[in-house]
Formats: sequence, C-alpha cells, structure tokens
Amino acid sequence: MFALPHLDLPPLRGAAGTVRLPGSKSISNRVLLLAGLAQGVTEVHDLLDSDDTRVMLDALRALGCGLEQDGAVLHVRGLGGRLAVHEASLFLGNAGTAMRPLTAALALLAASQGGSFELRGVPRMHERPIGDLVDALRPLGCGVDELGQPGYPPLRVHGQAGGRLDTAQPIRVRGDVSSQFLTALLLALPLVAGQGPVVIEVEGELISRPYIEITLELLARFGIHVQRDGWRRFTIAAGSRYQTPGRIHVEGDASSASYFVALGAIAATAAPVRIEGVGSDSIQGDIHFVAAAQAMGAQVQSGPGWIEVRRGRWPLQAITLDCNHIPDAAMTLAVMALYANGTTRLSGIASWRVKETDRIAAMAAELGKLGAGVVEGDDFIEVTPPARWRAATLHTYDDHRMAMCLSLAAFNPLAGANPPQPLRIQDPACVAKTFPDYFEALFGLVQADPAEVPVITIDGPSASGKGTLAAALARRLGWHFLDSGAVYRATALAAQRAGVPLDDEAAVARVAAALDLRFEGDRIWLAGEDVGDMLRLESTGAAASRVSAWPAVRQALHALQLSFRRAPGLVADGRDMGTVVFPQATLKVFLTASAAERAARRHKQLISKGFQASIADLRADIEARDARDRSRVTAPLKPAEDALSLDNSALGIDQSVDAVHRWWRQRNPLDQG
Ligand code: DC
Repeated sequence: MFALPHLDLPPLRGAAGTVRLPGSKSISNRVLLLAGLAQGVTEVHDLLDSDDTRVMLDALRALGCGLEQDGAVLHVRGLGGRLAVHEASLFLGNAGTAMRPLTAALALLAASQGGSFELRGVPRMHERPIGDLVDALRPLGCGVDELGQPGYPPLRVHGQAGGRLDTAQPIRVRGDVSSQFLTALLLALPLVAGQGPVVIEVEGELISRPYIEITLELLARFGIHVQRDGWRRFTIAAGSRYQTPGRIHVEGDASSASYFVALGAIAATAAPVRIEGVGSDSIQGDIHFVAAAQAMGAQVQSGPGWIEVRRGRWPLQAITLDCNHIPDAAMTLAVMALYANGTTRLSGIASWRVKETDRIAAMAAELGKLGAGVVEGDDFIEVTPPARWRAATLHTYDDHRMAMCLSLAAFNPLAGANPPQPLRIQDPACVAKTFPDYFEALFGLVQADPAEVPVITIDGPSASGKGTLAAALARRLGWHFLDSGAVYRATALAAQRAGVPLDDEAAVARVAAALDLRFEGDRIWLAGEDVGDMLRLESTGAAASRVSAWPAVRQALHALQLSFRRAPGLVADGRDMGTVVFPQATLKVFLTASAAERAARRHKQLISKGFQASIADLRADIEARDARDRSRVTAPLKPAEDALSLDNSALGIDQSVDAVHRWWRQRNPLDQG
C-alpha cells in the first residue's frame, strides 16, 4: 500500500492489540529451494509473500519447477535433483537468501549435468560479497565466472554434462563474513552426496550460528541428515537424497516479531501487544531477541506460536550485549536504546556492514538525526538516548529493517520529548522485502493523541468531486479516509433494513449509534456484508439526505466519525467535517466547481453507466439542491471560516490533488527547512 516517497508518523503514545506475523523469510526461501530440488510435490503453508520470496519463486519457475498456488497453500513440484532447463538468466533482486544457495546448487548441477546459468540482482546485491562461496565451489570442479567485480555477483556458473566433482576432500568455507555461504553449501551439497559422504570444514569463527541451525533443521525435514562436530565440521551422509515431507508449514518471522516485542516493551502500558505466528517453539535464532528485550525491561509471556509483551521497567534498562546470535533482530535493540536509562552497547555485529546496506553506518546516521549520541566501530554500536529529541527525516537505504526499526522512534513522547516530534520515513515501501503490510499492522496497534494526528477536511457542494479528491489525497499521503456521506448512507440503509421509518428521529438515531460499519480499502462492510454497491444507489442517497437532517442522528454518528482520526493521518470528506466534526483540522478545503461543470461531470458519469440524462435537467437539479443545502437548518452547506477554497472547474483530478497537497506541505513542519 505504501508506495509513497515518504510516510510521516505523528508522535505515538501507546500500543495494544494483536498482530499476525507474515512467514519467516529465512525459512520460506530455504523451504522453496529444498522443495524445488526434492523429488515429488511439497505443500507449503503460510509462505511469506514478499520481494525476496518472489525472486526465489521466479527463479524456480525459470528452472522448470512446477508451482501452483491454491489459496494460502503453494504446491511445489521439485526437480528431483535433475536439471529440466540447462540455461537461464536469473534476477534475484537483493535477496541474499536466494543468491547464495542458488549459486551453489546451480554450480553443482551445471558441473555434473551440463548447463550455464547467470545470477544477478540489484546494484546493492552486486556489492554484497560472495567470493568465499566461489572459492569453496571452484576446487570441486565447478565453473564460476565473475561477470562484474571479482568476489561479487553477477556470476555465471557453468559446466559440461558428465563432469566429475571432486568431493573426496573436505570442502573449506569461511564462516566469519556471512553464514549464508555455509548455508548455501549445506543446502546444495546433498545433490552430489550420492556416492560418498561430503564433508564441509569451516574456516574462521562461524557467525550467525542460529541461521545454520535453521538450515540443519529444514534439511532434516527434507530427509537429509548432517552430522555436526562443533561448529567446524559438517558431514552430509553418503546416499543423501532430498525427500519431500509432503506438507510443511512456515512459521512467522522471528526477526519481524522483534518490532512488535519492542513495541510492547516501549508502549504497551494498559494491555499487551500479542504476536501470533511465532513463539516459544520457534526454530529461528532471532527468537532469542525476546531475552534481550526482557533484559531491557520487557514483560513477556509466550507459548507455542504466540508471544505477549507489556512494558515492564521504564525507562528501559541500557544493556551491553554481544549480538552475534541475533544479528538481524539486534537492530531493534539499537532503537530500543533510545528509550533507555543510559548507553547501550551492541557488539558482534560486523555482519551488519554487508547486509542490505551498511547497517552500522546507516543506524548511526539516522539515530544521530533524532538527537541520540552514537559511537560506531567496525563491529559495534553504542547508543545514548537523545537529551533533546528532534523531528527528523529518516533515510531507509532500501533496507526493510531500517524502515521498521526507525518507525519505533515515533514514541518519543513516552521518553519525555517536549515538544513531541513527528518523523518522516523515506521510501516506506522498502518493507516489502519481508513484511509488505508492516505499516498497516503497526497502525492497527498504536495509539496517538488525536490532537496530534493531522486531519485534512474536504467539503463542497454535491458533485464537486470532493469524494474523489479526498480518496486520492488519502492514498497519496498513506492516510485513512473518512467518507462521511457513506456513513449517512449506511445509516439510512441499516434503518430501512431494520424496518425503521426514516422520519422517526429517535429510532434512526438508535440505529446510527449501533452501526456495525467497517471500511476496508474501497470496500464497505455493514454487519459483515459488503454493501459498497448498495450505498451508491440513488435511492440510498435520497434516504441518506433524509436521515442526515436529524440532529440526533448526527450526534449519534459523531463519535464514530471522530474514531477515524488515527495515525498516521486522516482525510475526511463531507458536509460538516471542517465545521463540526473536526473544527481543529490542520487544513480545511472547500471544493467548488461551477454548476455547469458539475452538471457536465454528472452527465458523463450517467452516460457511462448507460443512463439517459439531459444536461439542462441535471444542472437545474444541482442548482436546486445547492439552494436547499445552503438553507437547511441542520448542517447547512457552508465553508468553514478558515477553509481554503479551490475551484476545480478547470482542473483534472491529479491537478486538484496537487493543489491541496501543496497547501498541506506549507503547513507540515516536516516539509519546512
Ligand atoms: O456525499 P453523499 O452524497 O454520499 O452524502 C449522502 C447524504 O448525506 C447527502 O444528503 C449529504 C449528507 N451528508 C451530511 O449531511 N453530512 C455529511 N458529513 C456527509 C453527508
């Protein structure tokens, strides 16, 4: 949803509720590769749908694997260890979890069965090292060409059919740059363990061991047993063959859970934040983030598949921690450190420098903008909370984790920021790498002071195009949208369905007070039924016009309309939005267009739906309705005193949105300076 250049977060003050996590990236891409190499069909449940899994799926499809989506279940027909396609060029985005294992698997397959495969990604992927993996593969007899910088993608792996691989000697790989090189070998080498055992020896200190444990666990589920001697020597048994487990479930992403664990620790004072999809039974190393969060003060309960977190100690306790075991989730600790009682030191994080971006440098730069004191070293970062918080525009470096982490700085009022500071997150859509709906999930849990949530009201006469403008503006800003006309229409519809006469003010007001109404994108649900089309009927509009004249009905709908004022912001469209419901709105717009222009637009609309209409009649109707609307006693049509008028007679929709957006930027502190 947030394909926006940036997303502004108002100051946030609390959090509670339940979030269901998307599937783990690490598990998803390992399972996809194993299912793609195995014999038979694997049913994959709860796979993550994100940029990184999509490039893996595209690659498997290009290699001839059968992929069939059946609702939430993906059926993967594997290659059974035999290449179906001998030449392909694969684009792997910025997914290290696709680039490294596919390089190893295709290098081995090409070297024994013949073929040539190119693997490339986005420019950042071409800056992420792969030389240690190449150095491990070449002595086996794999052909690997580096097509760009030596030691980095893009690569071509190739070989002749009938080629022999030398797996008699232990295969050596460095373990101190990225554990993904070892994972890649572990996932791929069973392909050539038919004749004898294959031994891998790790050189240097192995980092990120929990990811190796995930690899071993998933290999076991696919029938491959690896004997592990410490963290130095791994032996894949002779005669190994990937066997599909038939059905496999992907657990929720434990790294993604870290943002919500932190959210609970920082902001869940009244009720807990409940996280579903990952819990005490997780096989992911980042689940150990929970212990680190507890050390900082989080109160945690958990069970299989769930975690509940509340704020415990406050301010949080500053910690000193070697984070080698939780490299990704440790980034979240760096942001929790903003809320601590002293300096937090995170060490053992050298791998941050070769991830989606140089995460140590990125984190230091962005936390510094907020006013924090930051010291960085080759493999550590120290964070001291801001003495004075500053509003900031935060870069995210095309790094999903930077965006998700930094959003947690919006709780600065809880750390005493005075005044509370809004934040701007650049390129929020980068979360699509692992958690496409992150911001929607976050906004579903957070509480702000309504007075600090920006509101733009759009009012104007019938057929002025205010609804279209308001909806488009809300999309552009990533804000909520309140179509108050639809609220009155739904009230009228609910009253009619309940057999309540529309002229019975008290009875209609009772219907209004109990309205079970839910807006979801373009759809509107009334008592669980999609009523979007019903609401748009002329007859419903006429009924709405009648019920909206009753003061008791307007009063009954007041609280419902106020409840739309939620982070990150609201565009509210309708009659009394700027005068009665949101008199303190940040920006009020009164949209007009000439009666002639409005009649022409309505005419075009009707003709396109196959209705006959005369422009003259429509214009007469519109003028009569304007007169009625202006003179009516309840909620007459009149601009708020401080509204800015926009005559859009000669403007297209984009130009109207541009005009209002410009007005908003003039008032938005994050757009100044
Ligand atoms: O904008 P619309 O046609 O969907 O509105 C339906 C009716 O509700 C219309 O008669 C105006 C009325 N209305 C209102 O009185 N107050 C609002 N805030 C919005 C709509």
